[in-house]
Amino acid sequence: MRTVRISDRVHYIGVNDRTTTKFEGMWPLPLGVSYNSYIVEGSEKTAIIDGVEASRAMQHIDAIKQILGDRRPDYLVINHMEPDHSGAVRMLRQAFPGIVIVGNAMTLAFNRGYYGIDSQTLQVKDGDTLPLGGDTTLRFHLTPMVHWPETMVTYLEEEQTLFSGDAFGCFGALNGAVVDTDMNTARYFPEMVRYYTNIVGKYGQFVQKALKKLEGLAIGTICSTHGPVWRSQIKEVIDIYDRLSRYEPLDNGATIVYGSMYGNTEIMAETAAQALAEGGVKEISVINASHTDISYIIAEIFRHRGLIIAAPTYSDTLFPPVAAVMEAIALRGLQNREVAVVGGHTWSQQAIKAMQQYIDACRLTPVADPVSFKHAPAADSLAQCAGMAAEMARILKVSANNG
Ligand code: FEO
Repeated sequence: MRTVRISDRVHYIGVNDRTTTKFEGMWPLPLGVSYNSYIVEGSEKTAIIDGVEASRAMQHIDAIKQILGDRRPDYLVINHMEPDHSGAVRMLRQAFPGIVIVGNAMTLAFNRGYYGIDSQTLQVKDGDTLPLGGDTTLRFHLTPMVHWPETMVTYLEEEQTLFSGDAFGCFGALNGAVVDTDMNTARYFPEMVRYYTNIVGKYGQFVQKALKKLEGLAIGTICSTHGPVWRSQIKEVIDIYDRLSRYEPLDNGATIVYGSMYGNTEIMAETAAQALAEGGVKEISVINASHTDISYIIAEIFRHRGLIIAAPTYSDTLFPPVAAVMEAIALRGLQNREVAVVGGHTWSQQAIKAMQQYIDACRLTPVADPVSFKHAPAADSLAQCAGMAAEMARILKVSANNG
């Protein structure tokens, strides 16, 4: 087990998971994921900050022993109770019986419920501090719903280090290096968009509250629970979380999500893509909802300003793979997008109606009337589809010129 010294007081003791195929049973992990954990050493006390998932308990305990030798950790600070970080807490307590579990009232209640742990706990409130001796002080800031109601962050004052929980995290295991200055971070940024939009995306207003609350803190290092430790790219990372949580797109491109059983709706999607390109839009994602995992579709929709949804009616309802996408964006309260819908049918126009209902629920305003076609795309419906996409391209170019 390799541990990494982050600073004079802080060691990285996290683990990689390259085995789990789907995070939370839903989100693909082609690059794996890391469960980050840290040790902070004061002159008198030692605190572990954040734990790991249950299957990695032995690795985690070995890492702690490697750093502390005969000494024992005094505290386990739980910033977030989701089991990817708390799953190994019972094993940790068995390995280090004296360890005191630190959390807010809700953390400790969750800890009782999940693991039956009800002793040797220390309850903290917003703004409380935990001195570790000498010039090493942890301060706790409650940041509810980033990503569960009990979430908080821990700030090591003397080093301006923020242990941020899930905030500023991303998918992707750590390939040797831990700190952003020691690696090429390019692979992590798309995985950050996917991580945020898939998992935290519904809670944008709470992320905004947390960002405002932490605004006054000088932050020199971000130690989140997933992905690299951020030191040289803090501004970029905070900017991505800020924009996504304000539901602002990251670019003025467009996503076309379509479902198609026999290729007719696909022709409409291709027609729209060509019209967008002819209109000068350079970032265009055309995605077959039956083919691509919804995790990636959600991320692309959050990334681009434009969104065209195209689908046929199926069994008198919206084609199910596209309905799942609509459900996902409605759940996350998508805002600030230029949208349009295209619906195909043979005898019932339910697809268009359902897509319109989802868009109304999100309070998004379409750029053009819905494009409806019956049986196969005919010249008039193809022209209407191209016209709708050309109008979207015009609006996206205006946004690009303004932005
Ligand atoms: Fe990484 Fe919300 O747990």
